[in-house]
Amino acid sequence: MRASPSSTLTIRRCLPQDLERISAIERASFSDPWTFETFSATLALRHLRFLVAEEGGAGGVAPTLVGYVVALVMVDEGEVADLAVAPSARRRGIARSLLERIMAEVMEAGVRALYLEVRESNAAARALYQALGFEPVGRRRGYYQHPTEDALLLRRDLAPRA
Ligand SMILES: CC(C)(COP(=O)(O)OP(=O)(O)OC[C@H]1O[C@@H](n2cnc3c(N)ncnc32)[C@H](O)[C@@H]1OP(=O)(O)O)[C@@H](O)C(=O)NCCC(=O)NCCS
Repeated sequence: MRASPSSTLTIRRCLPQDLERISAIERASFSDPWTFETFSATLALRHLRFLVAEEGGAGGVAPTLVGYVVALVMVDEGEVADLAVAPSARRRGIARSLLERIMAEVMEAGVRALYLEVRESNAAARALYQALGFEPVGRRRGYYQHPTEDALLLRRDLAPRA
């Protein structure tokens, strides 16, 4: 049985002091990771949502940053540009919590469709996105490097249900 999300999970806006830890999780998660400088530049963009998930923090112990999500907002469309969870914290519902929060936030901001690209071979991410209602709408050939691979373009309709 899967462990349930940590009861101490907190999701908040990313701060500059989070970027060292985020860069370390990114390097552990991707063969072509974003750099610290890319994250720094990203934080300064206005049309961007950058959330982090933290665990713990009770009893005077500092919380641990365990995941993050970056989304771009372009009027009524959005794009999930980056998402990762620390390897030791996976399969505990953290990515699901981050995505649910960012979907709610961008929907509140007027976004009606959320897009993202995923490596065709990334079974974990594809299962996550399928579970959250993303559907395949296209393919970008040779989109990724290290190794070269196609991206699947996924879309999640955020229009309020009647
Ligand atoms: C993909 C990733 C973000 C998932 O994070 P996570 O916190 O472990 O995911 P969750 O625990 O929220 O999983 C939610 C659901 O996604 C699916 N899922 C997640 N990981 C899975 C895996 N390894 N295998 C199969 N299904 C998986 C399941 O449906 C899961 O629900 P369940 O645990 O009740 O079965 C994480 O594996 C990761 O950081 N991978 C490397 C970076 C990456 O690929 N990012 C996405 C780029 S597009």
